[in-house]
Amino acid sequence: MSGTFSRLRRRLPSPPRLPLDSALHEPRTAVVLGRWLGAAFLVCFATGLISHGLQNPPGWLRDHLPSRPVDAYRVTQGLHVISGIAAIPLLGAKLWTVYPRLFARPAVRGVLHALERLGIAVLVGSALLELVSGLLDTVQWYPWPFPFRQTHFWLAWIAVGGLLLHVAAKAPLIAGHWRRGTGPAVTGRRAFLGGAALSAAAVTLLTAGQTVPWLRRADLFGARRPDLGPQGLPVNRTAAQAGTAAAGPGWRLSVAGPRPYALSLPELGALPQHTAVLPIACVEGWSASARWTGVRLRDLLDRAGAPPGARVRVVSLERGGPYAVMEMPATYARDPLTLLALRVNGEALDPDHGYPARIIAPGRPGVLQTKWVQRIEVLT
Ligand code: HEM
Repeated sequence: MSGTFSRLRRRLPSPPRLPLDSALHEPRTAVVLGRWLGAAFLVCFATGLISHGLQNPPGWLRDHLPSRPVDAYRVTQGLHVISGIAAIPLLGAKLWTVYPRLFARPAVRGVLHALERLGIAVLVGSALLELVSGLLDTVQWYPWPFPFRQTHFWLAWIAVGGLLLHVAAKAPLIAGHWRRGTGPAVTGRRAFLGGAALSAAAVTLLTAGQTVPWLRRADLFGARRPDLGPQGLPVNRTAAQAGTAAAGPGWRLSVAGPRPYALSLPELGALPQHTAVLPIACVEGWSASARWTGVRLRDLLDRAGAPPGARVRVVSLERGGPYAVMEMPATYARDPLTLLALRVNGEALDPDHGYPARIIAPGRPGVLQTKWVQRIEVLT
């Protein structure tokens, strides 16, 4: 029997030899890459928390969210996607550097070592899933049965928790190799680290133009071109995708409050109009500015007799869907730049941009800039 196996093994092609003996599988290289990767993860985590907090603010924070600077969310969410994309080649380089340690024998040397290995498994699994799911989200592809947002949020906590434990477990080794010149000189380290840095810089440069205007011409792989779309603006969700009931000539905006009223589109157009240059900043990382014209939301609220600190609920013609109803704290509702926009870049809104009327407010995630507005309710 064993002779048969030996003959079989001789006939099979031998497996490729992994370069387990590369001199680069060593702590100093792991520390340098770990520093870059850790920085990218922490920027990603902090900006992700900001995005989550803006979309699902806890009660104590809800009424204190600032509406300025107008570009705040554009910057934080742009950074989120940029640092997440840059982390992908860095994670690849880091895992390549340390993978022989994963096959070191004995696999487990005691209870503490077993716990550390378990932590590593959780860290690597969550970090990989977090980055891949985030990347696929930028192209709005969800080939999995779980809800993206909640999974991405909780995976982030798991990955960062795992990262802190990992750094604590390796602290002596990290401290011993933190400074340049520590550890033995290794041929090729500089080239390898340079290659990893260059890859991270390249993916950043070729995608960041979806949100950084002066990198627009280099935006070869970004999921969106911020200047492409009806009226020069991208659209994430078209009217057809949202299944909006067509707003015919009988459309009227109803405003519910102490003094409720309803207005037709010509009546809204006859109210004092204001123009603001504000960005649509999408959670998927792209952003684009436009010139919006319409009625100040606070004027509509005053007309309905809303108290100054009242929050507002905005209901869309969109049927169902997580963004058909949106709530807005008073800081945004009372900001003079917050509009019920009827026009963009000098034209009536395209149906895909929310005709007949949409909300545009400073500093808010794009998913909260409700399109196809039907009703505004004053919450007291
Ligand atoms: C998402 C972030 C990270 C991941 C996924 C990751 C992954 C790993 C893995 C799988 C190992 C091998 C585990 C083992 O020794 O059994 C390792 C080792 C190591 N990591 Fe990390 N790591 C990350 C961040 C960091 C950071 C921020 C630092 C320090 C600044 C760091 C420093 C090290 C060091 C010093 C080693 C040991 C290398 C050796 O002994 O040759 N890592 N890492």
